[in-house]
Order: sequence, then C-alpha cells, then structure tokens
Amino acid sequence: MKCRVCSAPIEAFMSFGKMPIANGFLTPEQFENEYFFELAPAFCSSCCTLQLTKQPDPEKMFHDHYAFFSRTSKHMVKHFQNYAHWVMDNYLDHNPFVIELGSNDGILLENFSKHGISHMGVEPSANVANIAQQHGVNSIVAFFSPELAKQILQQQGKADAIMAANVMCHIPDLNAIAEGVDILLKEQGVLIFEDPYLGDMVRRVSYDQLYDEHVYIFSAISVNNIFGRHGFELIDLLPQKTHGGSMRYVLARKGKRPISARVHDILQTEVELGLDKSGTFLKFKAQCESSKKELLETLRSLKTEGKRVVGYAATSKSTTVLNYCQITPDLIEFIADTTPEKQGKYSPGMHIPIKPYGSFCDAYPDYAVLFAWNHKDEIFAKEQTFSESGGQWITFVQEVFETVE
Ligand code: TYD
Ligand code: ZN
Repeated sequence: MKCRVCSAPIEAFMSFGKMPIANGFLTPEQFENEYFFELAPAFCSSCCTLQLTKQPDPEKMFHDHYAFFSRTSKHMVKHFQNYAHWVMDNYLDHNPFVIELGSNDGILLENFSKHGISHMGVEPSANVANIAQQHGVNSIVAFFSPELAKQILQQQGKADAIMAANVMCHIPDLNAIAEGVDILLKEQGVLIFEDPYLGDMVRRVSYDQLYDEHVYIFSAISVNNIFGRHGFELIDLLPQKTHGGSMRYVLARKGKRPISARVHDILQTEVELGLDKSGTFLKFKAQCESSKKELLETLRSLKTEGKRVVGYAATSKSTTVLNYCQITPDLIEFIADTTPEKQGKYSPGMHIPIKPYGSFCDAYPDYAVLFAWNHKDEIFAKEQTFSESGGQWITFVQEVFETVE
C-alpha cells in the first residue's frame, strides 16, 4: 500500500491481529455483529510517519454517542487551562480569532470564550458538541476540510491560531487538513497541536497507543515532513506528560517566525532514538512480543494460584492490550471504571465485564492490572488503601524518565 501522507510504498512491520473498535463497549446482544479490523502499523521510510495500514470508517468511531468526554478528568481540565493561557500569552494579539479542530466538550475553547475571545470549534460528534455549547463554546458539527475552511473564512475571516489536542493523530487525510489550515491561517498565524508522542511509545514499548482512532503516532521529524509539504515548518516543540507522553507541535508558515532551539535539540534526540529508521520498529515489534508473553505468563500463573485479578480503568488503550494478548474473562474477572456509559457493558473483543468503581473498592482483588498507566501517580495516590491491604499492581509498560510539562 501507499503512505497516507507522501504516497511512497509502505508495508506493515507487524500485526496486532484482529481488533474491535477501541471505545466500542457493548451489550451481549451486540457480540454477534461486532466489527473487527486488522491492527497493523507501518513506518514510511520516506516521510518517517508511523501509521495504521487499515482503519475503520470514521463514522464507526466518531458519532453521536461517542463515549469520550475530555471534561471527566480534573487533571485534563487544568491541563487545557494551561494550554489556553500559554497560547494567549505567546501567540495572540488584540482581537484575535482562534479555531480548534476536534473541540470535544469545549474543554480547551471555554478558556478563550471566558476571556471574550472570538472562537470556533469544529467537532464531528454532536453529543459532545452540545456539551460544549452549554459551556459557552461555539462549534460546528462537522469534519474539518478545505471546503469547511472556506466557509469559516467567509463568515469569520482568518485565524490567528488553529489548535488541536489528541485529534490530529485521528485524521487520515492530513494533506486535506494542511490545505484547510493554509486557507484559514493568517500570514503570521500558528498551527498548534498535541498528540501521543512516538518517542515515548518507542521508549516505553507502550504499544497500546496504537488503536483504531490513532491512525498516526507522530514524531517531530514526521510532523515537519507532513506539514513541510504545504509550506509550514516547526517553530517550537513542548514535551507533555499527558496520555503517557505527548508532544505539543507549533508550526508557522516557513520563514515567518523564529525557530526555537528546542526544535533542533528534539530533532537530534529523535535521530539518536532512531525515529527516522525502519529498523527501530523491528526492534519495537520484538519488544511488543516479549511484553505480551510476560503479561500472559503473569496472568496465567496468578490464575493457577487462585488469585483474584481485576482490571483498573477500561481505557481505549486497554482494547489493544486485551485483544493482542488475548486476555479472556477467565484471566481478568472484570474491569472497574468510573464512566457510567461503560458500566454494565462488556469490553470490545474480549467481552470482559465493565463494573462501577465501587466493585473494586468494596472487595479488593489480590491484583489489579493498571490499564490507565498514564494516570499512575494520581491512581497510586488515590488507592493507597488497596496497596496497604496487600493489593498489588500489574503494569506492562516500561518506566522511563519523565518528560517535562
Ligand atoms: P484515559 O487515560 O483517557 O484513556 P484512553 O484515552 O486510553 O481511553 O482514561 C480514561 C478512562 O479511564 C475512562 O474510562 C475512565 C477511566 N479511569 C478510571 O476508571 N479511574 C481513574 O482513576 C482514571 C484516571 C481513569
Ligand atoms: Zn510517507
């Protein structure tokens, strides 16, 4: 097949096997018709973009009952408040206009709205866009495209900043996004987005970042190449702790803004890490296979010992782990999760019951598999009683030095 970005020939370097929709929590009546696709990532040696070779139709993932609400995490509310203020302080002058792609429930844009800043969110899932509206955030229910960019341009003029968070990596046709941004952005305007970072995924062997919604896992090298094709260049990079290691990319039209020294430094680090070489991903594949073997051995031996094991947090990421490792309900009794929409349903593919958080606290298991490993500090602090009463955590990603926020 061809690279989604530059059309060079590419081939998957591994397959994680048959995968369901990561956020497709379901009822027993739906088991029979569950949708699966093959999760097989490829690395393009030409533009260095890591991508999924196959992906379900966007309508299967982002619809009017999309179960992901950014606002549910207090930590994320704070994160987006800081993100917004950082944009205001560094990139906005008087009377600015800002746009967010994939504005979800308005968690980022409400900070601009509160300051009376003219803004527009573009969000394909109507249910989350309605919540944004309740928080004073204007949004259009649509997928972003050059056509939509022209429409916004006619109605509201050019933007000072176009932003996104955990959205760009969801969008298969990035060339269309870059064209739209080119139409809408002022000469001095900036494109700012953050997504899970390939450097962290490689260092931690956190292969669970790969699931249907994440068609790309970016590096600075790949982002420079993708948007470089459309006249943009990286002017700054800011590593983030969110989602188990993310990167914030800041781009401007070539030559229009000074380039921070961080850009050079991080590009250099990426070369040292091998993010520009396909061989790196063969090593990654071998590490995924060992990680799978180790986790399965642990769970099987605990079962033999008659220990109670439950999952902690039914994250999207857990769908990849459960299905790749083929972790069946006899190995994990249930997964406790705080999201009401998931409770009482079953996990995609492996059909492990999802229970309310109380099911974990009311009768502590012997072991808990930490599927929300990206919130480890917050969770370990919250669950001290579990640890003190002899409960143990099972994790499956490598510890690495923390990135700065
Ligand atoms: P998140 O890190 O957003 O994961 P992903 O992007 O992979 O879905 O985690 C969100 C899920 O984790 C959500 O279903 C709620 C659950 N969760 C808990 O149940 N308890 C917790 O303490 C945390 C932090 C998350
Ligand atoms: Zn390519």
